[in-house]
Amino acid sequence: MTVALKNYTGRDILPFAEDLARLRIKVFRSFPYLYDGDMTYEQTYIDTYARSADSLFVLAFDGDQVVGAATGIPMADETDEFKQPFLDQGYQPDRIFYFGESVLLPEYRGRGIGVGFFEHRECHAREQGGFTHCCFCAVERPSDHPLRPSGYQPLDEFWHKRGYTRVPALNTKYRWRDIGETVQTAKPMTFWLKSL
Ligand SMILES: CC(C)(COP(=O)(O)OP(=O)(O)OC[C@H]1O[C@@H](n2cnc3c(N)ncnc32)[C@H](O)[C@@H]1OP(=O)(O)O)[C@@H](O)C(=O)NCCC(=O)NCCS
Repeated sequence: MTVALKNYTGRDILPFAEDLARLRIKVFRSFPYLYDGDMTYEQTYIDTYARSADSLFVLAFDGDQVVGAATGIPMADETDEFKQPFLDQGYQPDRIFYFGESVLLPEYRGRGIGVGFFEHRECHAREQGGFTHCCFCAVERPSDHPLRPSGYQPLDEFWHKRGYTRVPALNTKYRWRDIGETVQTAKPMTFWLKSL
């Protein structure tokens, strides 16, 4: 199966909004995200990206099926709450390009698509100009979490290979509802950074 990566910006993602929501809900159900899919949450998420003229969606297609996606947005187009950890640490949010996520169906993993997701987004950030850093954030789960699968391999090595460094001082909390929970709870998140 041949997979093609295609870039979309801003509102051009809207025809694929349902595909993206479906993918996120499916992939993020697994550890360490354990996200119990919520269409209202998905709508709010995609609206923020669609409103930003410089956001990027890299979609992975197998034929006409969307099998993976990676997203990015200038941090300046995110909410104040989102920018606060960067302001607190002396960074200028308008110089930072934030990567929302990479999600790929398990059967398509291990053949370089995840590397392509990073390349497309870094290239987009460089083309926009004015950004000094790219970043993303990762959820922190305890190593003895009851839902951690045996043999679970964290992505830290993959991210290090792409040139990203974990910066513990840049941290925040995101809220979502875990599988088995009735309400959203705050999850500790740590940012990873790379100079462009
Ligand atoms: C992240 C993700 C998109 C990576 O996709 P992928 O297409 O399988 O990654 P690639 O094939 O491009 O991997 C490239 C390299 O990283 C390595 N790699 C991939 N996953 C890895 C992992 N979990 N741990 C260590 N190395 C890993 C590959 O072995 C490969 O190494 P090589 O360059 O030495 O051959 C995919 O694993 C995924 O969807 N995961 C679930 C969602 C997720 O956790 N997203 C990230 C946070 S939003």
